[in-house]
Amino acid sequence: MSEWQKSTWRQKPRVQMPDYTDANALSAVEAQLSKYPPLVFAGEARRLKQHLGAAGRGEAFLLQGGDCAESFDQFSADAIRDTFKVMLQMAMVLTYAAKVPVIKVGRMAGQFAKPRSAPTETVNGVELPSYRGDIINDLAFTEASRVPDPKRMLQAYTQAAATVNLLRAFSTGGYADVNQVHAWTLGFAEGEKAERYREMANRISDTLDFMKAAGINNDTAHTLQSVEFYTSHEGLLLEYEEALTRLDSTSGKWLAGSGHMLWIGDRTRQPDGAHVEFLSGVQNPIGLKCGPTTTAEDLKVLTEKLNPENEEGKLTLIARFGAGKAGEHLPRLVQAVKEVGANVTWVCDPMHGNTIKSATGYKTRPFESVLREVRDFFGVHEAEGTIPGGVHFEMTGQDVTECTGGVRAVTDEDLSDRYHTACDPRLNASQSLELAFLVAEEISQLRDRTATRAAV
Ligand code: PEP
Ligand code: CO
Repeated sequence: MSEWQKSTWRQKPRVQMPDYTDANALSAVEAQLSKYPPLVFAGEARRLKQHLGAAGRGEAFLLQGGDCAESFDQFSADAIRDTFKVMLQMAMVLTYAAKVPVIKVGRMAGQFAKPRSAPTETVNGVELPSYRGDIINDLAFTEASRVPDPKRMLQAYTQAAATVNLLRAFSTGGYADVNQVHAWTLGFAEGEKAERYREMANRISDTLDFMKAAGINNDTAHTLQSVEFYTSHEGLLLEYEEALTRLDSTSGKWLAGSGHMLWIGDRTRQPDGAHVEFLSGVQNPIGLKCGPTTTAEDLKVLTEKLNPENEEGKLTLIARFGAGKAGEHLPRLVQAVKEVGANVTWVCDPMHGNTIKSATGYKTRPFESVLREVRDFFGVHEAEGTIPGGVHFEMTGQDVTECTGGVRAVTDEDLSDRYHTACDPRLNASQSLELAFLVAEEISQLRDRTATRAAV
């Protein structure tokens, strides 16, 4: 086997990548990007890998979330702040229940390239190439907009750099005040669920009061004001990824400098394909989406290729089957991983298997299906004796109407009000926080049952 280099993916079959027509323009952009600073540093990626290793052992829990696709149009400091803030709130709720640190990873600062189910899209009898994310082409339905333009990579880089900069500032600036925990539940309707949320909020705020009374508020204030927040995206557009890949002088290993964690999508995980080749050679923690078509055999090959040294935290398997389907697929994959003794961190993406067309024609995801898949995921791991290590959501801090349901119920008719996503439907702020409370319940119930079993 020839040795890995950051360009060896070019000799492998590639799917879901654009054919740039102007080779000179492409090379010029690649040359330019290669000179730009990386957006993340090797020490940070290694630290995230350690945290993810802890999640694989049940000593931490991953919360990964953000837009399906970041967009040039909707780029704003407020949108970044709001998603960041909701993620911190969710993390607080999850930390309280899980009693372990919650690792916060945004689908942010690079989540621009999208795999598509069809190469073209037809509207009113007109067929055009599909939109592939703002880093590749433009959403507008015209022939010119859909031509892949390499220069868009430079704009994506600039936006990612500005996003990382803001996230770094927010992370140390004490943005989400946990003392506001009561305010988070104000929007929830009355009823049994609302009562449970308030109970948990009460307990969190009692704990904070206790810590204050005990005089440990100075330390905790500092701890609560500064968080580690990591970035991630699908490693899809390999020209962009290669150009930002750098040799880390400390370890002598390669680092994909575009984000802390990169994942391989459900459509690009061919064991001999370009994406697996590229991501097998960088030291970043890697995610791998596992869907209904993932075979146990492929998974065994992929765990070996993507994590040849079997490091803890290196490989996160992101299960995305659809509500009611985890029981059919997840056990064989969990067993395959056990058979080869691979270290992995199992995470649930309850979004991508649950996309449906609403009665009003919008692509949506019912909150109930999202929740059900999370519960299925916890159930399978409990039965298999393995660890549910985290969750992966498409979500935003904005008050959008893209997914239906939740306590402040979004109906099919409401979808047209504030449907802003450039790609898949996202949970809004209220739905995200509600889900965090419900996942928190799953975690604490699982912990209680495990403790009971251990005691008898
Ligand atoms: C995504 O995470 O946006 C995505 C396209 O997921 P998947 O590859 O699992 O379909
Ligand atoms: Co998506």
